[in-house]
Amino acid sequence: MTHRFSGKTALVTGSTSNIGRAIAQRLAAEGAHVIVSGRNEERGAAVVEAIRSAGGRADFVAADLDGSAEVSRALAERALAALGGRLDILVNNAGIFPAATTLTADADMFDQVYGVNVKAPFFLMQALAPQMQAAGEGVIINLGSWVARLSLPLGALYASTKAAMETLTRAWSAEFADSGIRVNAVSPGVIRDPALDGPGYGDRFMAGTPAGGSGGPEAIAAAVAYLASDEAEFVHGTVLDVDGGRTGVAVVAGA
Ligand SMILES: NC(=O)c1ccc[n+]([C@@H]2O[C@H](COP(=O)([O-])OP(=O)(O)OC[C@H]3O[C@@H](n4cnc5c(N)ncnc54)[C@H](OP(=O)(O)O)[C@@H]3O)[C@@H](O)[C@H]2O)c1
Repeated sequence: MTHRFSGKTALVTGSTSNIGRAIAQRLAAEGAHVIVSGRNEERGAAVVEAIRSAGGRADFVAADLDGSAEVSRALAERALAALGGRLDILVNNAGIFPAATTLTADADMFDQVYGVNVKAPFFLMQALAPQMQAAGEGVIINLGSWVARLSLPLGALYASTKAAMETLTRAWSAEFADSGIRVNAVSPGVIRDPALDGPGYGDRFMAGTPAGGSGGPEAIAAAVAYLASDEAEFVHGTVLDVDGGRTGVAVVAGA
């Protein structure tokens, strides 16, 4: 594997499982010192151990991202302290996706989903951008979702948070362009968790797509690594669909 991130540092939120874990492992495998983060210390320690035993550098910083500026700021400060005061790559991956409908979602759920999926990345950006501005460089990668643009009869609340992250990706790209900060997003299709056995509940949402089924988290990690690397130096404010063709190709009944 190439070492595109030797000497670089990264914070990956929600990296105690599935997609975030794969991103943390990929960035570390390419040389980055990675902060693994989430609420679950046991799963966080396991990810750190896996990275270290593969020869990489990682540390765990626990955070329960409730959407408050204080919690995001505390995570930013603790991550910077563990990384020697410099962060090169921020991956806003932590996300929750309750399968509620508009009629069943209550106010607490609304606050929680917006707290983790939108407010936490917003205030992390606010906390970490000044250091990147001072360094004259930095990379932000947000996680979107295919459901931001292809609608289902449930999950409206979640879908709207991912649409917000697509918009923030473009808005931040414009706002921070002068400081050398590049901002992009990856929009996954249905991604199975290898920790769970067999075909997942989500596979039926991928029937008829060019990929024909759900993808693995490594596909998302590879896209994040590309966007984080200098190979993507001319890529700004884009949302890279890594979704098996879910949003780009129509499924035609009987064809
Ligand atoms: N899987 C898919 O099919 C799919 C498709 C499109 C987009 N996405 C997006 O991709 C991202 C990762 O999805 P995934 O499937 O890997 O999800 P996942 O397996 O459920 O993992 C979610 C991660 O977020 C963390 N997290 C949840 N609540 C948190 C909180 N309050 N504070 C801090 N961390 C929190 C979890 O860590 P702890 O449990 O340790 O707190 C976990 O590491 C999400 O943004 C999701 O919306 C996923």
